Amino acid sequence: MSLKPLFDFAILPDKNHRQPGGLAGWDILSVDQFDKAQLEYVFTRAHEMREMVQRVGAVDLLKGYVLACLFYEPSTRTSASFIAAMERLGGSVIPITQGVQFSSVSKGETLADTIRTLEQYADVIVLRHPDIGSAQVAADYARVPVLNAGDGAGEHPTQALLDLFTIREELGQIDGLKVAMVGDLRYGRTVHSLTKLLLQYDVSLRFVSPEILRMPLSIMNRVIDAGKDARETHDVADVIENADVLYVTRVQKERFTDLAQYEEVKNMYEITPELMTRAKQKMVVMHPLPRVGEIHYAVDHDPRAAYFRQVQNGMFIRMALLAAVLGKA
Ligand code: ASP
Ligand code: CP
Repeated sequence: MSLKPLFDFAILPDKNHRQPGGLAGWDILSVDQFDKAQLEYVFTRAHEMREMVQRVGAVDLLKGYVLACLFYEPSTRTSASFIAAMERLGGSVIPITQGVQFSSVSKGETLADTIRTLEQYADVIVLRHPDIGSAQVAADYARVPVLNAGDGAGEHPTQALLDLFTIREELGQIDGLKVAMVGDLRYGRTVHSLTKLLLQYDVSLRFVSPEILRMPLSIMNRVIDAGKDARETHDVADVIENADVLYVTRVQKERFTDLAQYEEVKNMYEITPELMTRAKQKMVVMHPLPRVGEIHYAVDHDPRAAYFRQVQNGMFIRMALLAAVLGKA
């Protein structure tokens, strides 16, 4: 008598023996891991996820799989969209998203031990942490895939993927566009990841920030090495007329050691309906959110305001990524 297997789960490839090309078993730590073909693959899967959600709402693709969502910093969108993504694919979630003060982190448990504990329960771990490089540390300890949901002022790769996906969905292409990033380019991890990702495309880049919040030199050097048409300025007026994408960011108060400095720069930019009259008819205003005054609420009615569509795209991208790293897409 042959025994029927109880479950028909895909066996997750060992992280050290990943199949070339595919994303199964991957940690997602930095946008540098993605080449153009892999980006296209993720975007195509995300597009399918959108159609699936519109048609039936949820499927059983990740039934039986568990995601541990571990957040050492506040989050609304990233945590909620990963949870929604996992649930819409039929999986379940261990949510440590309401503050690690309620977990054993408050007793002094290290990141390594917390990760080694959660992987006993979960098939994939999403981590947000205030330290640059923390996601890499977690991935070094974990046998299961670790997805970086923001490591301090380092990277926010899944955000950049959803940002790029949004640009493509909204404007139909990425090549040929002028992308202007505004605000805190020094500490903003979303603009770090997005800039690196955009270097793979034929784009012009405009960086708008106060002097103390300029894009880090390490990233500017990469922009220069890639031979991009790129310029820095302090004034949104210099970029508003030609921008195809106006990507606005919050000044990252939590990263400042000197709060007086934060006070000096916190209200430098506000995108208003009046400013928008000078922008192209076909362009998009984006923001990773939360906003704290950088975009006037009256701009929300402008069809070019894409930030809430961008939020929704986050769920589709994260559905695609979860399915991919778990070997199901
Ligand atoms: N939510 C984004 C992040 O966590 C942007 C921000 O907080 O301003 O990086
Ligand atoms: N965009 C973003 O990361 O939002 P949250 O900080 O709310 O997760």
